[in-house]
This record gives sequence, structure tokens and C-alpha cells, in this order.
Amino acid sequence: MLVARTVSELRLALETAQSPLGLVPTMGALHAGHLALVRQARSENTTVAATIFVNSRQFGSHDDFASYPRTLEQDLTVLEAEGADLVFVPSDEEMYPSGCETRVDVGRIGQVLEGQFREEHFLGVATVVLKLLNICRPDRVYMGQKDGQQCLVVRRMVEDLNLETELVTVSTVRDLDGLALSSRNALLTDKERSAARVISQALFAAKEMWESGVKDADRLKQHARDILAGEPLVTQVDYVSVADARTIEELKIVQGRAMLSTAVKIGSIRLIDNVMLDTD
Ligand code: PAJ
Repeated sequence: MLVARTVSELRLALETAQSPLGLVPTMGALHAGHLALVRQARSENTTVAATIFVNSRQFGSHDDFASYPRTLEQDLTVLEAEGADLVFVPSDEEMYPSGCETRVDVGRIGQVLEGQFREEHFLGVATVVLKLLNICRPDRVYMGQKDGQQCLVVRRMVEDLNLETELVTVSTVRDLDGLALSSRNALLTDKERSAARVISQALFAAKEMWESGVKDADRLKQHARDILAGEPLVTQVDYVSVADARTIEELKIVQGRAMLSTAVKIGSIRLIDNVMLDTD
């Protein structure tokens, strides 16, 4: 497995790589959720590249950039074990040399939900993902449904900017108690970790309500909120949303595919999760 630290090193390695190329962008601190992406990329492509870059531009000023977990050596070991061929680990300076001020704005889809609570977050995400796509030029890029809005933002960008890559969305990997795996889970205390299962419980309970025939979005959202309210370590609920799965327009009545999503603070750690309301 080749580890490239600069764009030119990576491009040189890609010159002789066999297509199709699958790309898995990450910020490191890899867990089984990330590895599901790598595994799917491995099964569908001849060459697999991963990127590890904690992207300062997608963290707000009050955000958790400094405390974001960093476990590079361990990450490289697991990527090698999963059969990745190339890993791009750029420095801040390599990705954002001075004067680099272009930003990618996907519009409304990046301003709602997470966008409302994390100012400029999706500007940072879209900009770095476009850079990574341009640097690596993959046939396919793999992203997790765990970050449902992020997938929609990247899909919008790929479509709007005529990018020649296929976005493959991979199902959310969960712990045994239902908590969606996230690098931020490592920051939870034992008590908070056990309380955090309420997030998926609330989402799945509302999904069951939908399956039993309730299509009124307010009732579904209230059911999820009631369950979250029962957990004292939930210190904040930023939103519970039922939105169209493609446009993220908030729905009154669920018709067609919808995404039920939430962002919750457990203690001081902010976690997000979603489930799809669809007939699959
Ligand atoms: P990061 O949080 O490291 O996640 C990298 C990829 O792994 C994302 O596509 C994310 O959705 C996916 N992922 C995380 N947890 C998952 C889980 N439990 N199940 C399935 N997939 C999961 O998302 C980012 O980094 C960044 O925003 C990035 C796209 C790399 C741009 O900086």
C-alpha cells in the first residue's frame, strides 16, 4: 500500500493504477463504518484509494476540530489489512496553500438541517470533496448513509458540476445496541455511550410508527422527540426532521422516500443519525 503525502506523489502513483478506481474519503479515526466503505470499494474496483484528511474548513469556530480523534498509524494498518492500494494523507498546507480561497456552494440543500447548525459546514465539505475528486479522478466515490445530508450535497455537486464519478452510498454500520458508529463516539464517557443508544431507538420507533401506517410527519417527529426526552443525558436536540430523501424539503405527509434524521447532544458531544422511510 502506497502512502502519498503530496498531490504530485499521488498523481504519479495513479498514472500506473488500473481502472476502475474507487475512492473512500475520510477524516481518519477509522472504525467499522469506514471499513464497510473500503470493503465495498474493494469488491467493485481494481484499485482502491482512501484519503485521510481532517478538514479544518468543515469545522465551525466553536466546533471540535482540535479534539477530533487522530489515529494515523492505526488507520494505515487497518487500510492495508482491508486491501487499500493507495492512501492520500495530505497536510493542511498541501490541500489549502495560501491564496486558496475558492469555495463550492451547493445552495439550499447545504443550508438546511446540519447547515443551519454548522455554519459553512457543507461549503467546507463540498470544497474538499471536489478537490479530492479532482486530485484522484475516481470512477466511483464511496460515502456513508450515516451522513445522509452529506451524501445529498455531494450528489447535487456531482450532478450540477457534471463530474465524471459515480457516488455509491453505503448503509450505516451500527453497534449492537443500534448506535451508529462515529469517530466522535470515542469522546463519550461510559455513561454517555450507554445513553447514546436512545438516538437510534427514537428513530427506529418513529420508523415503526410510519410502518404501522402513520404518514403525518409531525406525529412521527413528536414520537421521536418524546423518546429522546426520556433520556436525561440528552442535553440538546437540534432537530428532528422528516424530509424528502432527494431534495431535503421538510414534509408534512410522508409520500415516497423520506429521510428521518436528528442531531442530538449527549453531554457535550453532538451526534447525528438518520433512517430512511422507504419500502425497501
Ligand atoms: P468521516 O466522518 O471520517 O467519514 C468518512 C466516510 O465514512 C463518510 O462517507 C461517512 O458517511 C462514512 N461513515 C462514517 N460512519 C459511518 C457508519 N457508521 N456507517 C457507514 N458509513 C459511515 O464524512 C467525512 O469524514 C468528511 O466529511 C469527508 C467526506 C471525508 C470530507 O472531509
